[in-house]
Amino acid sequence: MTLSENSTVLVTGGAGYIGSHAVLALVDAGRTVVVLDDLSTGFRWAVPTGVPFVLGNVGDSALASRLIAEYRIGAIMHFAGSIIVPESVIDPLKYYLNNTANSRSLIAAAVTGGVKHFVFSSTAAVYGNPEHIPVNEDAVLKPINPYGESKLMTEHMLRDVAHAHDFNYCALRYFNVAGADPAGRSGQATVGATHLIKIAAEAACGKRDHVSIFGNDFPTPDGTGVRDYIHVSDLASAHLHALDALVSAPETNHTLNCGYGDGFSVMEVIDCVERVAGVKLDRRTGSRRAGDPATLVADNSRLLSHFSWRPKYAELDMIVADALRWERALETRDGIATN
Ligand code: UFG
Repeated sequence: MTLSENSTVLVTGGAGYIGSHAVLALVDAGRTVVVLDDLSTGFRWAVPTGVPFVLGNVGDSALASRLIAEYRIGAIMHFAGSIIVPESVIDPLKYYLNNTANSRSLIAAAVTGGVKHFVFSSTAAVYGNPEHIPVNEDAVLKPINPYGESKLMTEHMLRDVAHAHDFNYCALRYFNVAGADPAGRSGQATVGATHLIKIAAEAACGKRDHVSIFGNDFPTPDGTGVRDYIHVSDLASAHLHALDALVSAPETNHTLNCGYGDGFSVMEVIDCVERVAGVKLDRRTGSRRAGDPATLVADNSRLLSHFSWRPKYAELDMIVADALRWERALETRDGIATN
């Protein structure tokens, strides 16, 4: 079952990295979409032609309520938020505002406006340093940074709201999202990006002179942090499955890990970028970054059993190849720096 024909999906943060890929997946599937984004980290060009774009912040409840009524919103995919772990340690209130308070405002507008389905961008950071790897959704939730805490609080709000109102939700706990649309329509363009594959791709394209390794004394096989990297287009398609699941079973909520279940260390990621790009990178080992867990790898069996979602790009080489292609394309793309 899909949303009724006259209702539209509101995608917050739809001009951002992951949100824009979800918009592409929705549009490719013939869904009607409207994007709300304040362009704080997103780009107007990332929203496909023909998709209505509204400039604004999700915390503006009057605006959210107006959009919900005007566009007959039937479901919300909520991507807008702040995502940088070390920044959340330095500026926690930014995270509790953007990820918690603004989500509360949007959820309130959804309930008041009669929106029944909500897909939420949550994160593996809700687990902190998990005791068991791969980590499943029933693990203890003990974030070790404000970023994870700020997202977990929104998961709790959604759980309680779904209990109290005619409303269901899917919280997707993303592991490390990387790569770019294989057709080259979007990718990560954020200036000053901090994510490893993006940084290594920039270095491979000559935009940086080295890649820092944040700690080589973790309890991992080579001492560097281990993560589960998921291709952004596979993640986007999980959102479509989530939406359809919510619509077809309105009494059911979902909380699902989104990863492939494979862990790669920082060294292995850099090896892969070097191999795919055919260049050598200057690696400089430094100290650990605040808030970084040693290992985060998903047990994705719930995602695979609840949805018919199957990954199409579950190879680190594919993720890296798309990231590199996008990085090179950025050089010739207009309007990157200025929106
Ligand atoms: N790293 C480096 N050098 C860099 C950048 C990163 O060594 O220049 C290391 C980090 O210390 C970490 C790994 O590479 O061990 C991955 O770091 P990222 O910054 O790419 O990503 P994070 O793991 O910090 O966080 C990301 C998302 C979060 C999400 C988390 C889940 O930003 O939203 O993945 O695993 F919660």
